[in-house]
Amino acid sequence: MWKVEEIEIDPPAAREVQVQMAYAGMCHSDEHLREGNLTPPPEVLEMLGVSSMFPVVGGHEGAGVVTAVGPEVTQVAVGDHVAVAFIPACGTCFWCASGRQNLCDLGITTLCGPMISDGTWRYHLEGRNLNRMCQLGTFAEWVVCHEASLVKIDPAADLRAAALISCGIATGFGAAVERGRVRPGEVVVVAGCGGVGSGAVQGARLAGARSIVAVDPLHFKRVSAMRIGATHSAATLEEAVPVVAGLTEGRMADVVVLTPGTLTGELLLPACSIASKDGRIVVTALAPFNQVDVKLNLFNVAMWNQSILGTVFGSVSPRVQTPRLLSLHSQGLLHVDELITREYDLASVQEGYDDLRAGRNIRGVVRFGPR
Ligand SMILES: NC(=O)c1ccc[n+]([C@@H]2O[C@H](COP(=O)([O-])OP(=O)(O)OC[C@H]3O[C@@H](n4cnc5c(N)ncnc54)[C@H](O)[C@@H]3O)[C@@H](O)[C@H]2O)c1
Ligand SMILES: [Zn+2]
Ligand SMILES: [Zn+2]
Repeated sequence: MWKVEEIEIDPPAAREVQVQMAYAGMCHSDEHLREGNLTPPPEVLEMLGVSSMFPVVGGHEGAGVVTAVGPEVTQVAVGDHVAVAFIPACGTCFWCASGRQNLCDLGITTLCGPMISDGTWRYHLEGRNLNRMCQLGTFAEWVVCHEASLVKIDPAADLRAAALISCGIATGFGAAVERGRVRPGEVVVVAGCGGVGSGAVQGARLAGARSIVAVDPLHFKRVSAMRIGATHSAATLEEAVPVVAGLTEGRMADVVVLTPGTLTGELLLPACSIASKDGRIVVTALAPFNQVDVKLNLFNVAMWNQSILGTVFGSVSPRVQTPRLLSLHSQGLLHVDELITREYDLASVQEGYDDLRAGRNIRGVVRFGPR
């Protein structure tokens, strides 16, 4: 359970930045963290320098204002507005150097463990060191993180929108546009219409999809998806089959984006079945860390020339995507405010996750400071 505690956060050391948080989005990945789905095996924990993922400061979506910088910080200054990035970008590893900052080698450090900068701890609770979700911990009024985990944004940009774009919206958007490569006139299925799925629906819309079928067991989520660009909806992938068949003369969907709260191996078979020949199936939602079983018709995947594609952060660099999506938002082309079902204060984070589990929120957001 999420609990509010008074903790100690040291001042930023070299390459580190202190941020006063304005908003933190409530993504399903923190629920995965709490449930233990992100807990790696003991040998990986040992490699990361810890014996447990817990205690941990949750939260990895957010935006705020820089209030202090440590020595050698070059990317941001006091007063800058920033969004967080749940994958840090070092800028120099093989992946960053080849333009794929969402795959930065520092990504492994985001499970748990000490600061990236020097391997020591900045967060403490009653003498114990504290992990932070994704090297961030945005469910706190203050964050001290490495500058690689921050994206400088336009000071005029909406900080609440930036918080939601910083993970869920950007991930779903990129899953459709960058990874799924949706092209004008294509038919797209988005399975799971929470925060991430809402990004995927809108990515598909802006990429020119002619039909977007929103799949979610909850009526409220389907209605929300229709408001932001979905053209059809269904409660399950099975129920969506006749809809998609009718739209495509039986050829089926060009792109299927999987964004349910939890991915299970059973979802791959219906996802591939609703995809066309040459279809792209984008695996976006998280499954538990150690899950290996998948149901798949291997004959069909090969003979239908299909692609099953993973994605992290929508397969694009946060430093490119967050400002880009914020501009779309400020021009009224990307709906973010409409996705916020409720604002919570810090003391109500658990209530927010109860609401997420009960399917009451498209997105909940923590608002810091006086309400
Ligand atoms: N790949 C990445 O980089 C990345 C980034 C962010 C989040 N995620 C993951 O994406 C997933 C979605 O996150 P979210 O915050 O949008 O979650 P959410 O809880 O807000 O939304 C999930 C939605 O899926 C629906 N759903 C549940 N089972 C379904 C099914 N079988 N078919 C269709 N819909 C179903 C739920 O009703 C809900 O509306 C999570 O697993 C999250 O951890 C991945
Ligand atoms: Zn997230
Ligand atoms: Zn890197």
